Amino acid sequence: MQPTPEAHRGYSARFPENTLLAFQQAIAVGAKSMELDIHPSADGEFMVIHDARLERTTNGKGEVAKHSAAELAKLDAGSWKNPAFAGERIPALEQVLALSQQNNVYCNIEIKSFTAELFDVKRLVALLHKYAPKDAKHMLSSFDVQALLQVKQYDSNIPLAIIGGDGYGMLAQALEHQIPWIHCHYSRVNHDLLLAAHAKGIRINAWTVNQPSLYRHYARMGLDKICTDYIAEMIPA
Ligand code: G3P
Ligand code: MG
Repeated sequence: MQPTPEAHRGYSARFPENTLLAFQQAIAVGAKSMELDIHPSADGEFMVIHDARLERTTNGKGEVAKHSAAELAKLDAGSWKNPAFAGERIPALEQVLALSQQNNVYCNIEIKSFTAELFDVKRLVALLHKYAPKDAKHMLSSFDVQALLQVKQYDSNIPLAIIGGDGYGMLAQALEHQIPWIHCHYSRVNHDLLLAAHAKGIRINAWTVNQPSLYRHYARMGLDKICTDYIAEMIPA
């Protein structure tokens, strides 16, 4: 079985990460799985952005969670990458989900900050169902196991993944909480870990593999999914 190549923050090597453009371009080159990051806005909208603060990837300042969705939607999230991408915006999760559903691509949505008062689990789950692609399910992942357990308590049918660096520690947590995936930094993945995981029915996604030779190495090892910034370059690998 070939691993599924996953577009990390869209086709983020060449386009501004976590923007509609980066996701459209990932789909255009054949991605079937797209990773993205979410933070809640001050008014509880799920916004697609990696950092908790705005400075690195937008022309805004301060924390995402201190701005309304309408304020965030006006910011430029493209120019930092290249002036040619000026006018790209921070998308709301719903926009990315709609795009993925139209193209029958699924999303691996990383919950970056699980702030109880801003984070509406019920609404998140409803969005995942509303925009489900035809052939797969959207999934949720997080470094924060408690966030995943809150989702699981509410809806046990959403595929979940624990993210982390300590492969065996994550595997133990996945078994304890019956979470079907571990998303592990590639440097911590090896054949023994993969065998131990597969023996228990747990699947592994390695992030973030950006060299074709390394991609082939992990593909041959038998990983289930490999996350990359260079989706167009890795699909042929
Ligand atoms: O999905 C794993 C990976 O995205 C976690 O790290 O910092 O790229 O969100 P980061
Ligand atoms: Mg991420």
